[in-house]
Amino acid sequence: MSNVIVLGAQWGDEGKGKVVDLFSERFDIVARYQGGHNAGHTVFIGEKKFILKLIPSGVLRGKMAVIGNGVVIDPGALIEEMETLEKAGIHVEKQLAISNRAHVIFPFHRMVEKVSEARENRVAIGTTSRGIGPCYEDKIGRRGIRMADFIDRGQFRTLYDLLAEDKQTLAKAFHVEEQIDFARIRGQYEEYAERIRPMVCDAAGLLNTAMRDGKRVLFEGAQGTMLDVDHGTYPFVTSSSATAGGACTGAGVPPTRINGVIGVSKAYITRVGSGPFPTEVQGEAGEKIRTAGKEFGAVTGRPRRCGWFDVPLLRYTSMINGFDSVVITKLDVLDGFAEIPVCVAYKVNGRELRDMPASIHDLESIEPVYEKLPGWCSPTFGMTDYDGLPDRAKDYLKFLSGRAGVDIGCISTGPERDETIVIPNSKLTALIG
Ligand code: GDP
Ligand code: IMO
Ligand code: MG
Repeated sequence: MSNVIVLGAQWGDEGKGKVVDLFSERFDIVARYQGGHNAGHTVFIGEKKFILKLIPSGVLRGKMAVIGNGVVIDPGALIEEMETLEKAGIHVEKQLAISNRAHVIFPFHRMVEKVSEARENRVAIGTTSRGIGPCYEDKIGRRGIRMADFIDRGQFRTLYDLLAEDKQTLAKAFHVEEQIDFARIRGQYEEYAERIRPMVCDAAGLLNTAMRDGKRVLFEGAQGTMLDVDHGTYPFVTSSSATAGGACTGAGVPPTRINGVIGVSKAYITRVGSGPFPTEVQGEAGEKIRTAGKEFGAVTGRPRRCGWFDVPLLRYTSMINGFDSVVITKLDVLDGFAEIPVCVAYKVNGRELRDMPASIHDLESIEPVYEKLPGWCSPTFGMTDYDGLPDRAKDYLKFLSGRAGVDIGCISTGPERDETIVIPNSKLTALIG
């Protein structure tokens, strides 16, 4: 009867896709609650590689997949993703439910983002350029168009024309050269609406009824806690609530229905885009992690910035989300390192910090304090048994768990489903059943 949230404990790309795919076998429904096609969740099933952007990863196991009200949807991107999955033999249309309260992304959202990122004297956030932020701006500004109105043949034109007028004024004010054919976009979106209409429903109602009937729901977070609009390294964040609380508002489920929260964290850390990154490793060592971990963005292909494990960060993200247990992924990537530094504390101006700083200046001024742990220098890739791990790898995991004050219930040793160690009789096994 357990409903569980699985989410990123760092800056995204922690391996949530693999973990959700693995756990979803034990659940009836998998639901996304925030973000959009800025997410890229990679799942390997044998030779086949899937990158899920908007559609919850559980769809690959034949589970019901729900896109909640907190997600922003680019219908063109959704249809493309559906077609790719259909070609691979997955019956997406039969399995997918889309919230009638989710907001719609339009091409002019991407245009607004391009202009905003390129503005003079502004430090670019290094977004995925998918129009995510501007769509959430329209949502909070109460101008946006929701799925229910998007598929309403009578309403859509009026609402769209109002929004388009707004964007035209904005384009003029910012001297945008690019011609935007608003009428063509409207026609195209009217076609998209026909395709998507059968899947649009009251997703909150669906989820609550299912939970009442004893069905188990797995909530799949996108991005990561440090990219959360409130709790992350603001302003270098995404525009949604990627933390556990976001699952309730973004899916329309009460907190009292949630039985557990599982964080996903790499055995090191990465970040895509700009912003503070205390343990970032430049030069050769950074390149070595990037190569071993194949750290290139699943959505944009950008090289990911790489760094050493950050204990204060996990302690913080665990506090914000209340992790019952943590999955450590990509342990195998550290197989070739003779020595592994771990950040155990933050200092600013020589003074140790007790809390995660909020000001961007302090975040950028963090001096990480490292302890060096000996590497294990032997392969863990593909291991499935905790006892078989080298002693030093076990010591590394115990160190992270002890210092961050988290329970580690699962360790991932490769991208495939079965390249995983689940600790028997742990808090995690109790949650996923
Ligand atoms: P997500 O956005 O959190 O789902 O993560 P991404 O899919 O963007 O990035 C994680 C990458 O690491 C993907 O290419 C996965 O296939 C890969 N991966 C996941 N777990 C492991 C692991 O334990 N070891 C290795 N070597 N790769 C992994
Ligand atoms: P998954 O779900 C890593 C980053 C972008 C940029 C910032 C804002 O695969 O872990 P946005 O386009 O959201 O406005 O960009 O957030 N970002 C991610 N980084 N993984 C993701 O998703 C991300 N989604 C957004 O690189 O720094
Ligand atoms: Mg990703």
